[in-house]
Amino acid sequence: MATALIIGASRGIGLELVRQYLADGWRVIATARKAEDIDALAAMGAEAHGLDVTNVEAVAGLGWKLDGEELNVAILNAGVYGPRHDGFPLQTDFDTVMHTNVLAAMRLLPIIAPMVCATRGKLAVLSSKMGSLSERGNPTGSLYRASKAALNSVLIDTALSFGKQGATCVALHPGWVRTDMGGGDADLPVEQSAAGLRATINGLPASEVAVYRNYDGAEIGW
Ligand SMILES: NC(=O)c1ccc[n+]([C@@H]2O[C@H](COP(=O)([O-])OP(=O)(O)OC[C@H]3O[C@@H](n4cnc5c(N)ncnc54)[C@H](OP(=O)(O)O)[C@@H]3O)[C@@H](O)[C@H]2O)c1
Repeated sequence: MATALIIGASRGIGLELVRQYLADGWRVIATARKAEDIDALAAMGAEAHGLDVTNVEAVAGLGWKLDGEELNVAILNAGVYGPRHDGFPLQTDFDTVMHTNVLAAMRLLPIIAPMVCATRGKLAVLSSKMGSLSERGNPTGSLYRASKAALNSVLIDTALSFGKQGATCVALHPGWVRTDMGGGDADLPVEQSAAGLRATINGLPASEVAVYRNYDGAEIGW
């Protein structure tokens, strides 16, 4: 049975990805940081683990729990936007956004990538088009943009380390999605975004270098 790992699956896009992979008959391993969310994921039929991606012991613990797993798809979804203003950046906001969106990826991707190589599978991160350097048209959300650009850099390096061993690495833009982060005015329902992300991941040809894709499969420039 094909196996998917979704990191950060308590709500929003991550939760919908779990729902859709389960409905499609996949075995799903999912993580959340709150006990009630872990219980809810287990009740849906996922193998649920606790993980705050900023907790280094918990990250190492997940590595032990998943030892020997072979993953067809692994998706690092957990992320935060940070402050909704572009004024003077506070150290606490910087630390929260960078630790969640970047440092966690630097720790988790090397642990997960070998499990993806075992199936010559897909290793995805939920980035954002806001992280693109070459397609940037406005500066709002500067801290979030910097974090997703750095996440893309981490993914490119992950592909340089693990691409030849079989992991196809992809940075994904989910569209502007109606979630807690995207807000009620966003373009897309979460069901449509998750379905597009799954189809894009599924349709990706094997690649030794990282690729950057919109939820509908269109290429995005780094
Ligand atoms: N929505 C959009 O329009 C949009 C656009 C571009 C990119 N994205 C990206 O897509 C991903 C999912 O976004 P979303 O819209 O679904 O956001 P969301 O509704 O705000 O959900 C964020 C998810 O990340 C988890 N998370 C945050 N910090 C965490 C931590 N320290 N440890 C573990 N989990 C953590 C949250 O868990 P808790 O419930 O425990 O907080 C939640 O499951 C994010 O990476 C986001 O940057 C979203």
